[in-house]
Amino acid sequence: MTSAAPFLLACRRAPVPYTPVWLMRQAGRYMAEYRAIRERFSFLELCKTPDAAAEVTLQPVEHLGVDAAILFADILLVLEPLGVGLTFEKGDGPVIARPVRAPEQIVRLPKVDTADALAYVFETIRRVKHELAGRVPLIGFAGAPFTLASYAIEGGGSRSYAHTKRLLYAHPDAFHALMAHLVDVTADYLNGQIAAGVEAVQVFDSWVGNLSPDDYRAAVLPHMQELFRRLDPSVPAIHFSTGTAGFLELVAQAGGDVVGLDWRISLDEGWRRIGFERAVQGNLDPGVLLAPPAVIRARVREILERAGGRPGHVFNLGHGILPETPPDSVRALVDAVHELSAR
Ligand code: CP3
Repeated sequence: MTSAAPFLLACRRAPVPYTPVWLMRQAGRYMAEYRAIRERFSFLELCKTPDAAAEVTLQPVEHLGVDAAILFADILLVLEPLGVGLTFEKGDGPVIARPVRAPEQIVRLPKVDTADALAYVFETIRRVKHELAGRVPLIGFAGAPFTLASYAIEGGGSRSYAHTKRLLYAHPDAFHALMAHLVDVTADYLNGQIAAGVEAVQVFDSWVGNLSPDDYRAAVLPHMQELFRRLDPSVPAIHFSTGTAGFLELVAQAGGDVVGLDWRISLDEGWRRIGFERAVQGNLDPGVLLAPPAVIRARVREILERAGGRPGHVFNLGHGILPETPPDSVRALVDAVHELSAR
């Protein structure tokens, strides 16, 4: 059984033999083993081919020694059954052909039967669980409603979130209706992942740091609270965001057993503001993985010192691995976390 796995113990703030570590975007283009499979499939095909997606999910466990696997999928897959036209373009990232910008479009969004529309994800989970055979826990995930809404509204990534803010400020009722719709879909989707076997879930609110604290409180906080309330409490939930050091207390209030920290705030200061009665995850700058091994080791030591041996620290980057990262540096990071934190 994996219930005694260091990762799950840390999520519940139980004592651990060493600090567990996994990395956001641990499966991806920086690994030759990933690129080899990716030659045979487009990114969307890979996500929809359970055998191949399962193999990619396992690569970081086998090659890097991380303490958890994360399901290979994408936060944007749930937008596809909403009919917005999702594609991934080489070099440009995700593109949404029919962005949702007008209140009339939002009321017409279809209800989604996630068990049917995302059946391929649940099948990947079952295969991964079978192949992992309890070696490490499997993390499921979804995008948070604001981050998903921002892609659906902008039609892709954005710097200013101009369309999103226009909708939020000019048509707040429509914005709230979109958020509520995404909470419905996401709660179902994550509970389906838990039923299929994931042992923790992470909610990615990657772009919410673009909001002011007051807008977060009014437009996001109640929806996040509702989402976390609806999740099956039998597995820990990780609440990840970036750029939110200006309103971390609100992020903590929004929910999650584990709260993610990026590197723009020191781990100890972030943890104090979240409250030491919650677990935290983070928070190495992904850019540090471009440094020599001795520098990586020194930065790991610094973060572990800031964690101060308190129960409830999951080591991670503050955001996803950069594609330029040498795999040997990731191995050096994982080894350094395990060695320097051994109790
Ligand atoms: O290893 C893992 O972490 C699991 C798989 C995973 C992917 N995306 C695979 C992926 C996870 C957890 C995600 C989450 C995700 N996807 C987020 C939240 C995390 C974050 O980085 O903030 C976001 C914002 C997305 C949306 C997305 N997907 C973008 C912006 C892009 C293009 C940019 C890029 O990194 O290529 C993707 C594509 C994507 N998702 C790739 C992978 C491995 C690259 C696809 C490829 O070309 O092979």
